[in-house]
Amino acid sequence: MSFIPKHRRSVHEMKRAYNNRIYRFYGIVERYLGSKLDIIIHEKLAKIPSISSYTAIEYACGSGILTLKLSQLFKSVTGRDFSIKMLERAKVRARDAGCTVKFLEGNILAVDEPEKSYDYVFVSFALHLFPPDQEKEILKKLCRVARKSVIIIDHGKEWKLGIAIIEWLEGSYYDQFIKIDFNSIAQEIGCNSFDETQIADCTVLFFLCD
Ligand SMILES: C[S@@+](CC[C@H](N)C(=O)[O-])C[C@H]1O[C@@H](n2cnc3c(N)ncnc32)[C@H](O)[C@@H]1O
Repeated sequence: MSFIPKHRRSVHEMKRAYNNRIYRFYGIVERYLGSKLDIIIHEKLAKIPSISSYTAIEYACGSGILTLKLSQLFKSVTGRDFSIKMLERAKVRARDAGCTVKFLEGNILAVDEPEKSYDYVFVSFALHLFPPDQEKEILKKLCRVARKSVIIIDHGKEWKLGIAIIEWLEGSYYDQFIKIDFNSIAQEIGCNSFDETQIADCTVLFFLCD
């Protein structure tokens, strides 16, 4: 892993990259991640008791791959992202699929939802974009927003060359993300309970906030 030199994008560079280039070929990612998310929904999320009575928000929702799927399960779903181009893509996808989702601009580093304003808060394939200290801060803020749980879906803990190359191009913290002890973070930020599972080569984290 150490033979790949570090390449990290700042928040502004990341926003520019998504608005200028990445949104154009996100269709490939939608197909790849979509099938993984289907398995995670089937094995984990759909089993949340009384799910249809709860509200959810997804931060860094991108083109809404997960958001659209969640809209079939939850009472209402909001998606927020800082890239206008990704949000435009998400809105078109929702319209084409006949899904009702509210999409809004929003920066995960400046969460402005009132305390306990949603039952479930999701982040899918975006937490690895941030350095570990920032990840902890993000989780802490999101736990304040969630009445029930913060649910993180991201790359699996096993290092993969293909993903490392893609993430190097994206300028993320994948190499550090896969080593993070989220159980310790859950205790540090005061979560009542924490659950980590590996499903479909993905990490699924439940931070219980109620
Ligand atoms: C790899 S994509 C994942 C998108 C989507 N959640 C998915 O599963 O396909 C990362 C997303 O995070 C968004 N993002 C990155 N930094 C962000 C920030 N600071 N605030 C909000 N969104 C951000 C990008 O615009 C992009 O849409």
